[in-house]
Amino acid sequence: MKARIVAVDWGALSVEVSVGDHATVTNAGSADQVERTFERIIGSSAALESVLAQVEQVAPTDSTVLIEGETGTGKELIAHATHNASQRYGRAFIKLNCAAIPLDLLESELFGHEKGAFTGAIAQKIGRFEMADKGTLFLDEVGDIPPALQPKLLRVLQEQEFERLGSGRTHKVDVRLVAATNRNLEKMVARGQFRSDLYYRLNVFPILLPALRERREDIPALVTHFVKIFSCRMGKQIDSIPSEMMAAFQWHSWPGNIRELQNLVERAVILSRDGVLPNPLQKRQTSAIILSANAQSSLSSMNWEDSDRALIVETLEQAGWIVGGPRGAAAKLGLKRTTLLAKMRRLGISRPIPQDGTDLLGVTREDA
Ligand SMILES: Nc1ncnc2c1ncn2[C@@H]1O[C@H](COP(=O)(O)OP(=O)(O)OP(=O)(O)O)[C@@H](O)[C@H]1O
Ligand SMILES: [Mg+2]
Repeated sequence: MKARIVAVDWGALSVEVSVGDHATVTNAGSADQVERTFERIIGSSAALESVLAQVEQVAPTDSTVLIEGETGTGKELIAHATHNASQRYGRAFIKLNCAAIPLDLLESELFGHEKGAFTGAIAQKIGRFEMADKGTLFLDEVGDIPPALQPKLLRVLQEQEFERLGSGRTHKVDVRLVAATNRNLEKMVARGQFRSDLYYRLNVFPILLPALRERREDIPALVTHFVKIFSCRMGKQIDSIPSEMMAAFQWHSWPGNIRELQNLVERAVILSRDGVLPNPLQKRQTSAIILSANAQSSLSSMNWEDSDRALIVETLEQAGWIVGGPRGAAAKLGLKRTTLLAKMRRLGISRPIPQDGTDLLGVTREDA
């Protein structure tokens, strides 16, 4: 891929000013500085490359971006990248986590208030939309915006104007919105929990971040990256990353995605002795590893078959014994459907009580 400016070292460059408990205002440095201190978004999987290509495409426009994905997949990182690759780079990047603000305060956080607008409003307050004028507003956990506030958000997105609480004066702003959620907004719309018009307004350019188990090729580079960061931070020298740890990481299911991996590497670096990293995955987690075909030959096949079997049965049970499809066990394990079926056959796994419509392997018609 050609050079891009979607990833920058905001850690080193940014001046972060805490505003209240929940906001971060970032006044980044010049583009030259950014080029000098690039920090890559780690990974080269096709899935991540596709996300970064989408960021490159949408960043220069002023269109709203909706970043979706499981917890810890890097939504905030991508929101920053979108701002930094846009013409608004160098202007404010304002973040608001809608789930972290009590509902009755959210409106004033977004739009501000005048002195005396409500009990406790002892002074005038500027809202996040005003703070983000000419820059980017990142609304995290946008699915948590209560229904009563959704029409107001829709209005400011459409008209770029709003009033502070307790004031009739209309303020015009020029704000680019980047929103993120790990909830399924489409389902929330279907259940009447989220306004469809706001959803369509937010969903102009959706970017779906893949779970880490769907881009396992990125794991070694991420591990190396975080080992470097934490060993440097803790002043420890790590000579090598044991292959058993890498193998365990390669097959863990990573429900907490990159954040979980980052935390586990941090733990391993803390626990390391004499330059050797221990495997930070708990015994139970480690025993639930499916070994790759290559790794299998070097270890006792009995042990690994047992753990393989335990993990597959547990995952099949969680998936209601559905093998294929987005919610099937194969997807949860990061395996192809046919690979999982072959493993099940090899390990003699079948559904305990076969029901109508399933064969002995527990394969439903959905999987066929
Ligand atoms: N590709 C990546 N390369 C390097 N670090 C990453 C990458 N993706 C995520 N991270 C790091 O993982 C951590 C979690 O990322 P982030 O906070 O962006 O996740 P999130 O999707 O917003 O999670 P949540 O939904 O829980 O808020 C952060 O420390 C982030 O810097
Ligand atoms: Mg986040």
